[in-house]
Amino acid sequence: MARLLIVGRGAREHALGRALAGHELSFAGGNAGTASLGTNHELRVDDVPAVVALARSIAADLVVIGPEAPLVVGVVDALEAAGVRAFGPSSAAARLEGSKVFMKDFLVRHGIATAAHRVFDDAADARRYIEAADRPLVVKADGLCAGKGVVVASTPTEAIEAAAAMLERRVFGDAGARIVVEELLPGEEASFHVVCDGERYVALPAAQDHKRVRDGDRGPNTGGMGAYAPAPVVTDAVREAVLSGVVEKTLAGMRQDGAPFRGVLFVGLMIEAGVPRVLEFNVRFGDPEATVLLPLYDGDLFELLVGAASGDLRRASAATKDLFALSLVLAAEGYPAEPRTGDVIHGADAALEPGTWLLHAGTRRAGGDLVTSGGRVLVAGATGASLREARDRAYRVAERVRFAGEHHRGDIGHRALARVEQEVL
Ligand code: AMP
Ligand code: GLY
Repeated sequence: MARLLIVGRGAREHALGRALAGHELSFAGGNAGTASLGTNHELRVDDVPAVVALARSIAADLVVIGPEAPLVVGVVDALEAAGVRAFGPSSAAARLEGSKVFMKDFLVRHGIATAAHRVFDDAADARRYIEAADRPLVVKADGLCAGKGVVVASTPTEAIEAAAAMLERRVFGDAGARIVVEELLPGEEASFHVVCDGERYVALPAAQDHKRVRDGDRGPNTGGMGAYAPAPVVTDAVREAVLSGVVEKTLAGMRQDGAPFRGVLFVGLMIEAGVPRVLEFNVRFGDPEATVLLPLYDGDLFELLVGAASGDLRRASAATKDLFALSLVLAAEGYPAEPRTGDVIHGADAALEPGTWLLHAGTRRAGGDLVTSGGRVLVAGATGASLREARDRAYRVAERVRFAGEHHRGDIGHRALARVEQEVL
C-alpha cells in the first residue's frame, strides 16, 4: 500500500481515487465524493508551494496531478526538486498544452499532421489575413483559458472579432497576447490517451467527448458533457496511424527538444476519411474521458503511474478490458455560462451495481446535505458488453439523482451507436 496525493477537484480525480482504492489516499482539493475515499485538503491546486508542502507533510510516495494549470506552472518540477515522485509532465513538456504557439510550431517542426496555421500578435495583421483567407477559420488564444480560448468562426467577421477581443481587448489577459489562426478541419473528433515515461508508452482505448451542452451537439461549448470508449471512429488503421504518425513522433520530438514527456498525453484528433490530424494536445487526463478510460484499464494503475513517473514503463501492463464504457455529466442550472450552486442533491448515496459509477465533481457537504458547488455536478456511468448496454446502464444510474435545475444530454454515444447500428443493418 502506497501513500498517494491526488491533485484536483473534479470527476477525473474521483475516478483516479476509485481506481487507486486500496492505497492510502489524500486529495489536494477534492470534493464530497473523494472525501469518502480519503482525506481532502483545501488549497488552490495551482499553488505550487502549498502542494509541495502538503505532499511532504503526508510523506506521499506519489503525487498524481489531475488538471493542467499546476502542470504548466511547474508543480512536477517543484515536487521532484523536493524529492517527491510525481505523475505528470515538467513545465517544459506541459507547453504542449500551455502554449498553442509552441504546440503548433512543434507539430510543424516534427512533421506531424495538423491544421495549417499562422501566429499573430497584432490585431490589424490578423484582420488582413482573415479577410484574405476566404475560408472557415478557428481562432485560438495562445495560453490557458480554462477551455474558453477557442473560437470556431462561422464567418470572417466572427473570426476578426475573436482576434480583436483576444489581442486588443485582452479578454484572456496575457494568455491572448498571441493567437493562432488555423483552418477549420472537417471530420469527426476523437481523443487518444497515452501514458508515457519519456520514451515508451501505454495506449488507452480511443474516446469521444461531447463538448456542446445540448443534444445534437447544439448550444455553447462546455468542459465536456459525456464520453464513451472505445470510439469506433478510431479503426485499427487510424489507431496505427495515430501511434506511429503522432504519438511516437511526439515522444521522439520532445526528447530531441530536451523536454521528454512523462505523464499522460491526451491527443485531440480530427479524423476525416480515415486520416487523423492533431487538433490539440492536453498533458493530463481528460475530464470526463478519465471516467470511462480508467474503468477499462485492466492492469495495476498504480504500477502504470509510478512507471511513467520514474521513467520506466517496462513492467506496466497495457491490457484493457473487452468492454465499452460510457459516462454522462449531470450539470447545474445555468451551466456553462453561470452555473447556480447550493442546490440540494437527492439520490446520490444509493448503492451502485458493479461496473457502474456515480462520480462527484461540483459537490460538497453542507450540514447533513449534499449540495451542488460547481457547473458539472456528478458523472454517472457504466461499463457494458456493448455500447448500447453501457449507455442504458449509465442512464439508469443518472435517473435516480435529482437536484433543482439538473440537466444532462440524452444522446451521449449517438455517433457510435448510429455507426454500429448502420453496420448491423
Ligand atoms: P481545443 O481547445 O483546441 O480542443 O478546441 C476546442 C474545440 O474546438 C475542439 O474540441 C474542436 O471541437 C474545435 N476545434 C479546434 N480546432 C479546430 C479546427 N482546426 N477545426 C475544427 N474544429 C476545431
Ligand atoms: N474533456 C476535455 C478535456 O478534458 O479537456
